[in-house]
Amino acid sequence: MILVTGGLGFIGSHTVVALQEKGHEVLIIDDLSNSTLEVLEGIEAASGTRPKFQELNLQNSLGVAEVFKSHNITGIIHFAAAKAVGESVEKPIAYYQNNLGSLLNLLAEIENSNKPIPFIFSSSCTVYGEATELPISESSPVKPAMSPYGNTKQVGEEILVDTVKAVKNFRAISLRYFNPIGAHPSNAIGELPLGKPQNLVPFITQTAAGLYPKLTVFGNDYPTPDGTNVRDYIHVVDLAEAHVVALERILGRKSTDAYEVFNLGTGKGSSVLEVIESFERVSGQKLTYEIGKRRAGDVIAAYADTTKAHEVLGWKTKRSLDEAVASAWAWEKKIRDLQ
Ligand code: WQD
Repeated sequence: MILVTGGLGFIGSHTVVALQEKGHEVLIIDDLSNSTLEVLEGIEAASGTRPKFQELNLQNSLGVAEVFKSHNITGIIHFAAAKAVGESVEKPIAYYQNNLGSLLNLLAEIENSNKPIPFIFSSSCTVYGEATELPISESSPVKPAMSPYGNTKQVGEEILVDTVKAVKNFRAISLRYFNPIGAHPSNAIGELPLGKPQNLVPFITQTAAGLYPKLTVFGNDYPTPDGTNVRDYIHVVDLAEAHVVALERILGRKSTDAYEVFNLGTGKGSSVLEVIESFERVSGQKLTYEIGKRRAGDVIAAYADTTKAHEVLGWKTKRSLDEAVASAWAWEKKIRDLQ
């Protein structure tokens, strides 16, 4: 049984579909703090299988112990975490308690179970901060985190480094995502930003759906080709498939080190204006936007060096920016009942 924590979330739900398509049996644990039970229906519609589900906040150590007692957990993909950068600055204690407390409870159960359960950790390119060199490789220096959220990813990785040294045969892989976007081609699952979106693509599709009068581009005076920030936008289905490859790498005893790190991106940088152009191309409609002030904390540019993921993990992205943006727009139209 593969335990997927946060499996009702955006990347988690797409990973559950990818796992089930490869024949894995899945148990989702989710506290529903940033998702809804309808996602379970969506996962079943997308993959033909309804995963087991248990509502639980992983800070509840007794609850976590009970899960390990009641199920034969043979692998863990750990997504469950709070991830709003701005909110983490206002509520650092809650972010450390939730994100690190949950991780520690899972690792404590692995240590107690005496079973070296393969562990995949959801990390982020945010650990690199403003990288000095582009594209960003796994050996690029990890910079002091720019938010408590980013720090929970950095500290989470450090906890895994120490744990693989202490717990016999325990192996873990951290996956550092760039910018996940899009939705499953079945249009049964997608990104459900509850409340006002922070991220670019949901803001584009919600503006196009009429929820907001316009998009504000946060600055066009950066040292980039068109003055707007550059990011590596990766289709969420490509990202989900990478999680299955990483898990099966440890299950198949192919991992060469007890702890490995992989950057997951397309290797291509796209500017904010290029994403807007992609939306206009795939939707056939103009987007209303204005150029506004820079957003605090934004890095100028970030995109992945995909060499290690390709050569070691044997994985690379298959889907284009247009395909990802088109799938995000199809999902938006569906959840807003637009034609
Ligand atoms: C992308 C670009 C904005 C909204 C975040 C998290 C990171 C990771 C991925 C979890 C930036 C611009 C955005 C808008 C805009 N999440 N933008 N107008 O900031 O690269 O990364 O999501 O791990 O931790 O920080 O993504 O989508 O917020 O922004 O101009 O209304 O779009 O300035 O340049 P970001 P984003």
